[in-house]
Amino acid sequence: MFGKIIGIDNNLVLVEMNHSNQYKDIMNRHVYLIDDRTVVGEISDIKNNVAYIMLLGEMINQKFVFGVIKKPSFQSKVSFVSDKDVEKIIGVTDYHEETDLYIGTSPIYENIPIGFHINDFFNSHFAIFGSTGAGKSCGVARIIQNLFSKKVQIPYRASLFIFDAYGEYHSAFHDLYKTVPEIAFKAYTTDIHSQDELIKIPLWLLGVDDIALLLGAEKHSQLVMIEKALKLVTVFAREEQMVLKIKNDIIARAILDILSSGGTSAQIRDQIFSVLSHYNTKELNLETPVFQPGYTRPLKQCLNIDASGKIREMELIVDFMEKFLTEDYELTLPDGSFLYTLKDLQDAFDFALISEGIFSSEKIYDEANILKVRLHALVASDDRFYFDYPEYIDRTSYIKKLLTASNGRKAQIINFDINYIDDRLAKNITKIYSKLLFDFSKNMNQRASMPFHIILEEAHRYVQNDNDKFLLGYNIFERITKEGRKYGVLLGLISQRPSELSETSLSQCSNFLIFKMLHPADVDYIKQMVPNVTQEVMKQLRILQPGTCIAFGSAFHVPVLVKMDMPSPEPSSSNCNISALWFVHKDKS
Ligand SMILES: Nc1ncnc2c1ncn2[C@@H]1O[C@H](COP(=O)(O)OP(=O)(O)OP(=O)(O)O)[C@@H](O)[C@H]1O
Ligand SMILES: [Mg+2]
Repeated sequence: MFGKIIGIDNNLVLVEMNHSNQYKDIMNRHVYLIDDRTVVGEISDIKNNVAYIMLLGEMINQKFVFGVIKKPSFQSKVSFVSDKDVEKIIGVTDYHEETDLYIGTSPIYENIPIGFHINDFFNSHFAIFGSTGAGKSCGVARIIQNLFSKKVQIPYRASLFIFDAYGEYHSAFHDLYKTVPEIAFKAYTTDIHSQDELIKIPLWLLGVDDIALLLGAEKHSQLVMIEKALKLVTVFAREEQMVLKIKNDIIARAILDILSSGGTSAQIRDQIFSVLSHYNTKELNLETPVFQPGYTRPLKQCLNIDASGKIREMELIVDFMEKFLTEDYELTLPDGSFLYTLKDLQDAFDFALISEGIFSSEKIYDEANILKVRLHALVASDDRFYFDYPEYIDRTSYIKKLLTASNGRKAQIINFDINYIDDRLAKNITKIYSKLLFDFSKNMNQRASMPFHIILEEAHRYVQNDNDKFLLGYNIFERITKEGRKYGVLLGLISQRPSELSETSLSQCSNFLIFKMLHPADVDYIKQMVPNVTQEVMKQLRILQPGTCIAFGSAFHVPVLVKMDMPSPEPSSSNCNISALWFVHKDKS
């Protein structure tokens, strides 16, 4: 069938074909190019009786080695690779049940199972891409189901955290325990009316960065306000005696600042009125009596402006306010060791704002006010339930709880259904959990002894080139993709729109399953970002059937086509059956 080599162009070898009627079914088949070495290639195209063979690697001592340093000679003889060697190239050599995993079969060679060494795939970050309906969610479900269906060993200590953007995976994993009773699935939801456990994050486990993300902070000056609020909450939530003292101190300082601001009397009076109507304590408010020998009146009267346009009692007010100043408290950030509520935070936040001079400039006022409004909105909305943890818990116990199913067993699949919240909150919740897990892993005595896999559906909504780097100095997903491997925190990014994903994160992925993909921007982006993926591989992406993907990366010898089986049970992701939903018999309409 194969004739002479008539050209070698970069990684492509052009071979004359002799029997044009036998070309059927030879696309993507593997061939040897044998002279003194045995080079292996894949037929990537056939045009005008010429086969275009993409060079992949070499057979050395009966083993397939990826990469071709020296091109084959023009005298090389071309023939199909034997079935035994095909397995060595695209399959798992020497399959072991406990260390390897089959994920599907080859659509090119019947009955050749395709898989990987579990370590090579799951010990680094991976990405699963494809257009809508291409088979990503079914693929993920199938892989995880295969992982948990092993005959003798089970991945009991696996911890897969799935951020389930559409609430699809419950149906795929909920009943796994019926066939493998040793394992458990844990479902968290954002549906406040559901029977499932609601996502609840203890506020006190969050840091300045987390709160900044939650409130959509954009400026460094806003971080200072958040930090101050958290420092105040340390006192507000715990030391009742101290709270009044500190509140008085903050209000008094704000008023002293206003008095020395150099504004007109009317401005000063109005601002003090404004501060005291919003921020007051039982000891310091507009009605607080101010004593003078023989004369007592409420504070508000001391602010009266006389006929000459002056606040006559300026000095008296200064003296009065100075009595509320106190130096005997030190503010520290909360260390996660005590409970506080959103309400405590809100209270602390309001006082943080005046202590940071909210009334001193319009700019500061605007920056502060926007955070204040967002925090108030959070406290007033149903979203508050996600931060309303009922009792004190420390970080280690909280993570342990996430990993424990309702029957007390270790949960291996922890599914967060984030379908019921808006994109912004969903993004922040995925970031908060990812940071929590990453920080926990980083502080573990024995590095990477408990691997966590964070699998993000619709990853392009969360793993973006956003403002975090400017604001916080890092983006948690980029940090995890760069450092997580060492600590056993690994990301699985699933997305229809890889071109919207953060470049840093994508470039750190080691394995890829790419389903049918049409958008040229996405195809180009992958080509640019992913090493070793050739033009020929990218061309195939447009014509893949649902459930078929190209797998490549460190867990695969070569880019390989994989036909996956449908998962059973399926995730709730099936296409809408329009005709069944639309049509009714004329009699019943
Ligand atoms: N392995 C498979 N074999 C046959 N058909 C499949 C396979 N995988 C998926 N499909 C078909 O494709 C449909 C969509 O699959 P899936 O929900 O996994 O797509 P998706 O890539 O996750 O889409 P989206 O990006 O919209 O979430 C399935 O309902 C099924 O009909
Ligand atoms: Mg999907």
